[in-house]
Amino acid sequence: MKTKIIDCTKTIDDEALQQCGKQLRQGEIGIFPTETVYGIGANALDEKAATHIFEAKGRANDNPLIVHVADFDILEQLVEPPSEMEQKLIDAFFPGPFTLILKRKETVPNVVTAGLDTVGIRMPENEIARKLITYANCPICAPSANISSRPSGTKLEDIQEEFDGKVAFMIDGGMTTIGVESTVCKVIDGIPTILRPGKITPQDIEEVVGICKLDSHLFQSATGKVESPGMKYKHYAPNAEALMVYSDVEDTMIQLIKENLRPNTAIIGFQEHQKYFPNQKFYVHGHIHQLEEIMHNIFTLLRQVDREKPDFIIIEGVKKEGLGIAIMNRLIRSVSYRYIEK
Ligand code: TXA
Ligand code: MG
Repeated sequence: MKTKIIDCTKTIDDEALQQCGKQLRQGEIGIFPTETVYGIGANALDEKAATHIFEAKGRANDNPLIVHVADFDILEQLVEPPSEMEQKLIDAFFPGPFTLILKRKETVPNVVTAGLDTVGIRMPENEIARKLITYANCPICAPSANISSRPSGTKLEDIQEEFDGKVAFMIDGGMTTIGVESTVCKVIDGIPTILRPGKITPQDIEEVVGICKLDSHLFQSATGKVESPGMKYKHYAPNAEALMVYSDVEDTMIQLIKENLRPNTAIIGFQEHQKYFPNQKFYVHGHIHQLEEIMHNIFTLLRQVDREKPDFIIIEGVKKEGLGIAIMNRLIRSVSYRYIEK
């Protein structure tokens, strides 16, 4: 298949987007930007098209896809009426980097939900994504556009090779603004529970409905029965072995890195710490306390470091608070849970 590249980095090419929308509706798959990460999408009501996504990503078929919508009216076709609390969350966080797990209707094919009786619904805010869904005139199921277990794509250049020839189109919308995937939330026994942390934090949810819980697997590996199948799988991993270190005390953090250095180590860390490692390859993920900046940069940095082929990677972590919850959830997985905290 010849993959068409559509450049929407400077202006949105409506005509091309209409064409892409039509292709999605007719059963093809394609890559598009959202405000979180790039997605690889298909018509969510077309079982065969959805299957192609699993094949292109090498994704386990028990890991369900999120369904993306551009307007509220379509919800009643896809899900049972939301509870009062679910409705408050929808009102507060749609459109945005937020996925709500709801009871699905039979219209959503089994492949999309991996046989679950629920479906994740997200209404992206990114203009290209919204227009594409609107032009397609159908809900779009889309996981992150990366080969399974690889870091998610926040720039088209990072993922272009992985999917070249496997999708009908790729829409370039420049670097995504947020940088990590949406917050996945499910109301369980009346309590909104975060199954995957993101830009919408537990505090944001508490402000809307007064309560919020974190799933117990956010910082540890999970096997067996979990609320969200994605928790079980290897994620965001660079090719080289990697270690994460964290301490509240700056000197201790520097010490932890020094103790663990090996030949040909790449460090991913704070701008303020670069000066302590003049002889190491050092990649800045952001400034201390600038969590939005770190969130924006981590996935593309993991890929950049990979291209330099270090033998070992050390990553500086952040405090598990606010946006730091999402950052640490991704980083802990990317180092396959090799983590030292002092
Ligand atoms: O920001 C995002 O959410 C991006 C963009 C493209 O929208 N999408 C994304 O999709 O990250 P994906 O498939 O890479 O991650 C979806 C996560 C998986 O961990 C999956 O297991 C979980 O959401 N999930 C999907 N449907 C679910 C359901 N019905 N119940 C529990 N977890 C679900
Ligand atoms: Mg993913």
